[in-house]
Amino acid sequence: MLYPGGRAAAIPAIVLAWFALATPARAESSLQPAGWDRGVALADAPDLNPDPHVVEVDIDARVAAVEIAPGERVDAWTYNGGIPGPLIRVHAGDRLIVHFSNHLPQPTTMHWHGVRLPIQMDGVPDVSQPPVPNGGTFTYDFVVPDAGLYWYHPHVMSAAQVGFGLYGALLVEDPADPVAVADETVLVLSDIALDGKGGFESPESGGTTGMAFGREGNHLLVNGHEHPRLVVRSGAPERWRIVNAAKSRFFQFDLEGQPFTRIGGDGGLAEYPVQLDALVLAPGERADVIVTPRGEPGTELIIRAFPFNRGFGSTEYRMAEDLMTIAFADLPAYAGGPFPAVRRTIDPIDTTGATAVDIEFTIAQRPTGAFEYGINGVPFARNHSIAAKPGETQVWTIANKTKWSHPFHLHGFFFQVLDKDGGPVHPLQWKDTVNVPLDQTVRLVVRYDDRPGSWMFHCHVLDHADGGLMGMVDLGVPHVDHTAHAGH
Ligand code: C2O
Ligand code: CU
Repeated sequence: MLYPGGRAAAIPAIVLAWFALATPARAESSLQPAGWDRGVALADAPDLNPDPHVVEVDIDARVAAVEIAPGERVDAWTYNGGIPGPLIRVHAGDRLIVHFSNHLPQPTTMHWHGVRLPIQMDGVPDVSQPPVPNGGTFTYDFVVPDAGLYWYHPHVMSAAQVGFGLYGALLVEDPADPVAVADETVLVLSDIALDGKGGFESPESGGTTGMAFGREGNHLLVNGHEHPRLVVRSGAPERWRIVNAAKSRFFQFDLEGQPFTRIGGDGGLAEYPVQLDALVLAPGERADVIVTPRGEPGTELIIRAFPFNRGFGSTEYRMAEDLMTIAFADLPAYAGGPFPAVRRTIDPIDTTGATAVDIEFTIAQRPTGAFEYGINGVPFARNHSIAAKPGETQVWTIANKTKWSHPFHLHGFFFQVLDKDGGPVHPLQWKDTVNVPLDQTVRLVVRYDDRPGSWMFHCHVLDHADGGLMGMVDLGVPHVDHTAHAGH
């Protein structure tokens, strides 16, 4: 032994003491009863690769019998047999390899919503890859650059395929995550349209009028379950990472009036936390929230989804619906202090010299009576792409001239939302999906990096996208005629 044992032992003790002072007061161990999130826990996709910086998973799209509530089964379209698909966990900077195979009766693809990846991995049929036919395979292989909650879903006949159950969460953890809350759960909110006879309602129900509204499901799901329960200790903070994977429904819910804290959204943490009484998530959006439910042991708190006004026909004669139950465990309330606020430095994108891009969301009725959405009056199948250059900054002004709200989603890039004077909205945050309310205008700024390709933007009410509300940004590529392939 070169060093006396006493000294060798003393150094780590000092280092540990320093480390405890220097790191945030992260609750390392759970404050919740064992199995508190059993009612919602998602299956993790097993990582097949021993390299700590490579996550390699198998995803198989197939029809499988799924039980969404006791006794309520349906042959759903699934990733790996479940709704939602498995939770894929990576760390920011990891390489993700997905061996995808399609056993569905239709061609499909996987789109990685929100991830800043190369165009070849974006999952848009005929634009970034050929659609994967029944029996076919495709390998998605890319580096996941940014921490946050993302999600995956098909980009072929999206309204139908997502509606049948194809979606899952991709959680990108920050290796230096500053959030001092150990109890964390991922919640995938969605809905599903069952016909009451063991099958699905037609994805074409109501014709183009149904499309213009955006068809919602008639059963609300949290991680694929109707009315699941969390069993919690009163006063103990929990972190919920939430994604709205519904094809049309906006989720609006509260905690029976108890406040909660939103710390982030689409592209990771926000500039600073915000206290809220209710949360609204448009289709495609994510939220990162800290909740600290309080109640007497043995009692329950019901989380209810309230109708949200997203346009004509969306609130009339509709009631709040139970979404999830919080049951208070038989434990004394947790008396620790509030969790420390988390902040993140986000620089506002400089808008000087930015190119103005002005678009309108429109709806028209054909002589046949059929409704058709469009960008500037032209549906996707005939509209022209927006040209962009690597390094260019664009300020988009999106005017919604229709009677429905449209969650705008841009593939491949984050943007920042601007106020009506053109300044950044605070808290600053990186977004890939933002609601453009009916009859209103939203401005945003995007700065393109050097990932050339044709990048799609569209409304994330997927019926609206299929009904024409889509367009393309041609970044650093010669003008492409996208009108030949309207596959979404
Ligand atoms: Cu989440 Cu093009 O979509
Ligand atoms: Cu829309």
